[in-house]
Amino acid sequence: MSKHPQLNRHGELRHLLTVEGLPRDVLLHIMDTAQGFMSFGDREVKKVPLLRGKSVFNLFFENSTRTRTTFEIAAKRLSADIFNLDIQRSSTAKGETLVDTIANLEAMDADIFVVRHSESGAPFLIAQHSPDHVHVVNAGDGRHAHPTQGLLDMMTIRHYKRDFSALRVAIVGDIVHSRVARSDIHALTTLGVPEVRVVGPKTLVPGDLRAMGVRVCHDIAEGLRDVDVVMMLRLQNERMSGGLLPSASEFHMMYGLTPERLALARPDAIVMHPGPINRGVEIDSSVADGPSSVILPQVRFGIAVRMAVLSIVAHTAA
Ligand code: CP
Repeated sequence: MSKHPQLNRHGELRHLLTVEGLPRDVLLHIMDTAQGFMSFGDREVKKVPLLRGKSVFNLFFENSTRTRTTFEIAAKRLSADIFNLDIQRSSTAKGETLVDTIANLEAMDADIFVVRHSESGAPFLIAQHSPDHVHVVNAGDGRHAHPTQGLLDMMTIRHYKRDFSALRVAIVGDIVHSRVARSDIHALTTLGVPEVRVVGPKTLVPGDLRAMGVRVCHDIAEGLRDVDVVMMLRLQNERMSGGLLPSASEFHMMYGLTPERLALARPDAIVMHPGPINRGVEIDSSVADGPSSVILPQVRFGIAVRMAVLSIVAHTAA
């Protein structure tokens, strides 16, 4: 596989596997394309024929509410045929390998696979084993990457803050297990955000994250002071191997986003969260539902970003 397997030799996006290594102009192209799709939700006819005749397979080997549904909405708005594989009832449960499952779906004339998997690297493996005309979009793999979440987060920030070049952004919570944090850090630094802080206890925010170009803060007040954007993350209990935290309530006491803590940020700071939120753990309800919260607009941006990604990869040659 080449260094950037997701780009063709002209630098165009043919798979979306990770934000890491994607040039700024590719990120901006996706965001600008998504901007053109933002008004579709308000139209009487919400469809365009950009993917008419294409078959999109949603392969979610891990649970999802937002990503799976918004990919389905995006594919339908682009007039694609979308198939949601029911993993619990699929032959994966009988021991079929991922590569064999994919080969069989390719025999059914798949054009695009949208893949979520608990194993980091699964979408890369599928891209390696797919013929040139098939495109793969990573919908979240293990703790590695969640590129469309990273992109929709950048759309949200650009919408509310306009310019990336003078922002302070704090990402708070369980950074070490978070594919969203990784994708957001790569996107924010590529787009020129001068200060990205990662905030949380040492067990969830190890010092070696500094290698990603971020400022590591274990003190919540230091992490939140004067930031423009607060991105909260939930505790990824399904990826923890135990003993990293005394309890959820202790985490809330030390790092939960309360109105008092939010007051340390700039007065016009926005509060983001990829969802699902755990109220009373990483975020108080009064903040999640309050005037600074843009958590639900993030979901809306997700439809437009996923329309953009599907329409771009589907029309990119190998
Ligand atoms: N943000 C996100 O990935 O949510 P889901 O797990 O519901 O898709």
